Amino acid sequence: MSQGTGSTGGSDAATGGSEGTAFGGSGGAARCPFTGEGALPLHRGPDRGEASAAELPWEQLRSQYGGLVPVEIAPGVPGWLLLGYKENLQVLRDQTYFSADPRPWSPSGVPPARSGALNRDGDEHQRLRVPIVDALASVGTPQLVPAVERAAVHLIGLVESAGSADLIGDYAAPLPALILNELFGLPDSYGHLLADLTARLWSGDPARAEPAALAVRSYFEGLVARKRADPGQDITSLILEHPHGLTDDEAVEALSLLWETGHEPTTHLIGNALLKLLEDPNVWTAYLGGTLTPEDFVDYVMWTDSPIRMLAGRYSTMDIGFAGARIRQGDPLLFGFASAHTDPSVSRVADDAMALAGNRSHLSWGAGAHRCPATAFTRELVRTAIDTVVDRMRGMVMAVESAELRWRASLSVHGLEELPVWFTPTGERDQRGERPEESRPEPVVTRWVRRRKRKPAGQGARYQAPLPRGGQPEDGAAKNETPAPAAPARTAKPRPRRAAPRGAGARYQAPFAEETHTPDPLEQLLHTWRPRG
Ligand code: HEM
Repeated sequence: MSQGTGSTGGSDAATGGSEGTAFGGSGGAARCPFTGEGALPLHRGPDRGEASAAELPWEQLRSQYGGLVPVEIAPGVPGWLLLGYKENLQVLRDQTYFSADPRPWSPSGVPPARSGALNRDGDEHQRLRVPIVDALASVGTPQLVPAVERAAVHLIGLVESAGSADLIGDYAAPLPALILNELFGLPDSYGHLLADLTARLWSGDPARAEPAALAVRSYFEGLVARKRADPGQDITSLILEHPHGLTDDEAVEALSLLWETGHEPTTHLIGNALLKLLEDPNVWTAYLGGTLTPEDFVDYVMWTDSPIRMLAGRYSTMDIGFAGARIRQGDPLLFGFASAHTDPSVSRVADDAMALAGNRSHLSWGAGAHRCPATAFTRELVRTAIDTVVDRMRGMVMAVESAELRWRASLSVHGLEELPVWFTPTGERDQRGERPEESRPEPVVTRWVRRRKRKPAGQGARYQAPLPRGGQPEDGAAKNETPAPAAPARTAKPRPRRAAPRGAGARYQAPFAEETHTPDPLEQLLHTWRPRG
């Protein structure tokens, strides 16, 4: 995940997302009294011959250093990793001594290109955050849950007959992409595109990640251009029409931020929660029996297996003494949620599900001005995702031993590469999972005409119903252009165009003249991108 980094994925938040950029590349040893022997080198991960963050000895570090430890974020880039619960919370909440804005501390004097809410303070932050908060608030349970169910059933349908699946690659990873894409207001074909691009970004292979990063940028630029020209009932249009008057560039940043901050942790919250259910029969029994409610279960996973282990986040605004250390102005500080959650001052019962269930004081959603604006949304999404898979993959068991599971080689993300399972096959492919029209390009001209013919949105409905209800499209355009993942009606092929009557006058020519158009940037992206290459 690249929260707080302004990077377009593919890099590690704990290293600033763009090593030597977000956290500066100079200032170097002179700014940190502990560089060299004393600083913990975070830039040498497991693939670089060092222990992974999962193996960081949190307890030992806390007893040796207290609330924070000096680290080397990238070669020559010193910083601090917050270890204690109290220290993490204090820095999350305090905007006087700790800033989220990297610009003043950029060593080159060149501010990072990105300008999302997560990298701003004060009024500027509020101006960018409020449109996001208001747009997310428009997505209620009655809209979100059926959308998640449809997408979940569709994905399960693709593997249902096999009786085996990778719950990360086949389910937990594509699901948030499909949902976010639907909220953004695009047809599912773009959701599969976004899921594919996201998978490439996190593949760890620069040859796959770099073109994907460019394509993701094109996706968001194309999305904003399309919705500016032709608004709909979606969160993109809400953000664009918000009274705060975001520019196109700011809207692109806002939407990219929703995806950057939302996709990966949601994937791994689903994955880590499913692993917990599969591994621990007590948790499974309590969950299915109803003594462990889904909401409380999510909190339990957020304590014990938070998808965010460490997070790049703040800069000291002045020289200060903090938690017994001397912090210099501009020093970057990383949040250490994995350490905070095992800090004995707050968590003495780290592995007792029932003791941690329902305890909302974990830091996984952040705190203070930048606290995650999507907590209710994510809880609902994750709960529905878990319930649907548990319900439909009957007899689900892990296909490998726990020790054989591969974890992401990341300092910041705590999540599995794969979660292979076996379950009782249904023996048939779920019809709702079959979407033959997705295997071929959408008819661009037809889609253009549909958009032009879209009925105006119902007055007052926008804030209530950004998603189609119960799988039923709300207007003609939605019926054809945003097929829900599982609605059988949406698998219908586009109707053939009627031929123009022969010898007709200009009256009959005009509508067809509209059909010759240049595909917009999103259409071009969809038609040029080769999935799963
Ligand atoms: C399990 C899933 C998620 C976790 C653990 C999570 C966690 C967080 C955390 C810790 C922050 C604060 C970062 C900081 O203070 O520097 C944050 C901010 C944010 N999150 Fe989430 N998040 C999740 C899902 C989502 C989703 C699904 C969305 C969008 C649909 C989202 C949108 C945002 C945004 C826009 C911010 C920036 C808010 C601001 O700067 O004012 N998050 N998230």
